[in-house]
Amino acid sequence: MSETVLENIRTRRVVREMTDQPVAQEQIEKILEAARWAPSGGNLRPNRYIVVEDPETRRLIRLVSPGMFQKAPVLILICTDGDVLTEHSLPPTDRALLIDIGTAAQTIMLATHALGLASGPVTSYSKEAVKVILNLPASYSPEMFICIGHKAETTRRGMTAWKRITWRDLTHWERFPDD
Ligand SMILES: Cc1cc2nc3c(=O)[nH]c(=O)nc-3n(C[C@H](O)[C@H](O)[C@H](O)COP(=O)(O)O)c2cc1C
Repeated sequence: MSETVLENIRTRRVVREMTDQPVAQEQIEKILEAARWAPSGGNLRPNRYIVVEDPETRRLIRLVSPGMFQKAPVLILICTDGDVLTEHSLPPTDRALLIDIGTAAQTIMLATHALGLASGPVTSYSKEAVKVILNLPASYSPEMFICIGHKAETTRRGMTAWKRITWRDLTHWERFPDD
């Protein structure tokens, strides 16, 4: 692994204030290409991606998304396609599905950051309303938006001012001792 990749991982932050400067089509395609390479449980690839740039559609989505603070010029919606689950006899509760969404989300956000753009994930929205707004196929479950754009100068601070944590705070080595 190169230091550049580590630096990209370290410096990516969720951005909740973006300008309305558009994102080039070529950059959006590079981000989607990166998502295609995200790992997927059993290599089943149940994720589908919906790109939304239309201003009126984005406005409607924001109306039903209390956790979407950005007015991002591009939204990528990560969906799970239930038809893929049926094909492979997977229940919708299979935990690999949520993990697949996570691997795709982080891959999209790191690719976005590598291109000099800003991103922010959003899970706080009405799934039912989003299905209607986007006229999603019945088998698609809308799981997570990634907002993409250019960072505004005045940037909203993070969600909560937690104390700074290190990897040591999050890690335990080896087997836990017996009581
Ligand atoms: C599963 C998940 C759901 C999230 N949902 C939202 C959301 O609805 N709105 C939002 O502004 N940020 C959301 N976030 C972003 C987190 O709040 C953010 O990653 C966290 O505060 C740490 O900030 P950082 O990634 O810049 O270090 C979500 C992140 C994850 C992983």
